[in-house]
Amino acid sequence: MREVKKAVIPVAGFGTRFLPATKSTPKEMLPIIDKPIIHYIVEEAIKSGIETIIFVTGRHKRAIEDYFDYYPELESILLKNGKKELVESLREISNMAEFVYVRQKEQLGLGHAVLTAKHIVGDEPFAVLLGDELIINDKQPAIGQLISAYYKFGKSVIGTMEVSKEDVSKYGIVAGKSITEGIKLVDYMVEKPKPEEAPSTSAIIGRYVLTPTIFEELEKTPLGKGGELQLTDAMVNLLKKEAIYSKDIEGIRHDTGNKLGYLKAIIDFALMSEDIKEDIKELILKKCKEING
Ligand code: G1P
Repeated sequence: MREVKKAVIPVAGFGTRFLPATKSTPKEMLPIIDKPIIHYIVEEAIKSGIETIIFVTGRHKRAIEDYFDYYPELESILLKNGKKELVESLREISNMAEFVYVRQKEQLGLGHAVLTAKHIVGDEPFAVLLGDELIINDKQPAIGQLISAYYKFGKSVIGTMEVSKEDVSKYGIVAGKSITEGIKLVDYMVEKPKPEEAPSTSAIIGRYVLTPTIFEELEKTPLGKGGELQLTDAMVNLLKKEAIYSKDIEGIRHDTGNKLGYLKAIIDFALMSEDIKEDIKELILKKCKEING
């Protein structure tokens, strides 16, 4: 079985929910304390055995390329100021993986973004990580959990999570037969159904391991919801040829794509950060007292 060594990370979206901040800064570059969101996503992939990160990017996203590149001018200033360790830590970011960038010329949806990476992925299984979701699991990162399931079943594995009935219309929803605790053999999938039409409350969260057969399906799948090429629609077609599994991801998930989720992520990460956690606890307790009068 081919190993999962490549990950596709679509980053071409505009991030309209964070305007005006995202007018000139990619939403993936918004910081959680002192690291941009995308850094955590890349770390998750690397910790899961990924070696090549393929960013599907766009015209307004050059800051991401710069972030994962060397910055000699800054490094020489830091070196002059005796900050060798800082320089090394900045270099480590660029050396984490092999980074490849491919431009999505038109924003035609997640399926289109994945298809744009076809020639770089080639004929091997690959991971997909969406940049809006941060999932914390210290034992095994989210995408690593799916990669392990892929090695067991040899078929595509989609990351899922239970959501409330009202929330099903925000997600791709899967239904299937339970195989073992948290793992299903998928028999149906639908993108953002109305609550009354949803086959279950098992939602696709932004982590996938896909076989390369998905590209053939993406090439044939017509535009779907929102006039976009939906990855979920292509997976429905893939189901006719190949089994697909879903796995409930273990971990704490933060949807950093909306304001409240982003703030919650910052608070959670601050409470885990050795250098500021005590101060932040004190601040939260003080605020609670103020709020409660
Ligand atoms: C995408 C997928 C959807 C999935 C979601 C997870 O939707 O199309 O199936 O449930 O990501 O975040 P988006 O949120 O990009 O519209």
